[in-house]
Amino acid sequence: MLVLGIESTCDETACSLVIEGKQILSNVISSQIDIHREFGGVVPELACRRHIDVILPIIKEALEEGNRDLADVDLIAAAHGPGLIGALLIGLNAAKSLALAIKKPFIAVNHIEAHLYAALMSLPAMPSFPCLGVVLSGGHTSILKINSLGNYAVIGQTVDDAIGEAFDKAAKILNLPYPGGPRIEEMASLGDPYRYSLKPGNVKGRPFDFSFSGLKTAMLYLARGQNGVGPMALNEKEQCDAAAAFQCAAFNDVIEKTLAAASLHRCQTIIFGGGVTNSQTLRRMFSEKENELNFLWPSKGLSLDNGAMIAGLGYHKFMLQGSDTLSLEAQTRIPF
Ligand code: KG4
Ligand code: ZN
Repeated sequence: MLVLGIESTCDETACSLVIEGKQILSNVISSQIDIHREFGGVVPELACRRHIDVILPIIKEALEEGNRDLADVDLIAAAHGPGLIGALLIGLNAAKSLALAIKKPFIAVNHIEAHLYAALMSLPAMPSFPCLGVVLSGGHTSILKINSLGNYAVIGQTVDDAIGEAFDKAAKILNLPYPGGPRIEEMASLGDPYRYSLKPGNVKGRPFDFSFSGLKTAMLYLARGQNGVGPMALNEKEQCDAAAAFQCAAFNDVIEKTLAAASLHRCQTIIFGGGVTNSQTLRRMFSEKENELNFLWPSKGLSLDNGAMIAGLGYHKFMLQGSDTLSLEAQTRIPF
């Protein structure tokens, strides 16, 4: 079964062809970083306009790269949320229109679930469930118990900023361009994580929840003085040290809560998903901390938003429950 997957939840327009949820024939991603960079974050109206401009060329490119015609496609999958409403509508309506035009079934998938599925795509077989799922992206930070594909229970989540969002805001404070995560990682590699003491928050009575807004504010005061609006107070070396302290604090918090949740819920396998899992530092820190657990990370090109994870999960969802109707609507928020 050949699945065409479309992703347009935020600032990437992507399309991919995947066979049986596994074999990726093409994975075309058009990033909008260039248009959002000058604003230091995603501007929804600009994102929508760019999605409209590139959606059809990207679908065409994915078909060409995969050496297939539209007529070869058996199923059309699209992310229906969570995400920006205008952005979602473009990918979703493109998918529905294609399905209608070529008379093939349509399936909608949850973008966050798809991020977790990305780490399973290269495995010869599914891991034995239950597993722990850890979503670390620009819009979400959650720890989940995965009982089976499609069956999740939330163990913890952020009560304020998502971890990627916190990295992007910290980067902005340090005058680094959007998206901030990779730039913080670069600067942190030159810095001393112990020079400054930065701490993420804990949520009373909810040991697996996250709070990153205090960490971001601590970075603001460190770099811009106690009123938070002064000029840069740190020299170049101190900025690297601040980046290292921020990254170390955020990642140690994730590691601590993930390992405690894995132990409490007796999960041997941890599945990671989302743009922040692109960080090689995070992967190294996890493996240095614990080597008895089975860590599953997305392969290269599948951490950030992409259409392959949508097509891949779409295949399994279709096999489990059949197609969705074309009246299915976009959802900016989807509770697990
Ligand atoms: O999953 P994603 O592509 O989009 C959402 O679904 O939100 O994640 C994008 C996020 C951005 O906030 C970006 O700064 C972060 O992933 N990110 C990183 C790194 N690479 C990307 N954060 C920390 N370290 C990185 N190396
Ligand atoms: Zn994402």
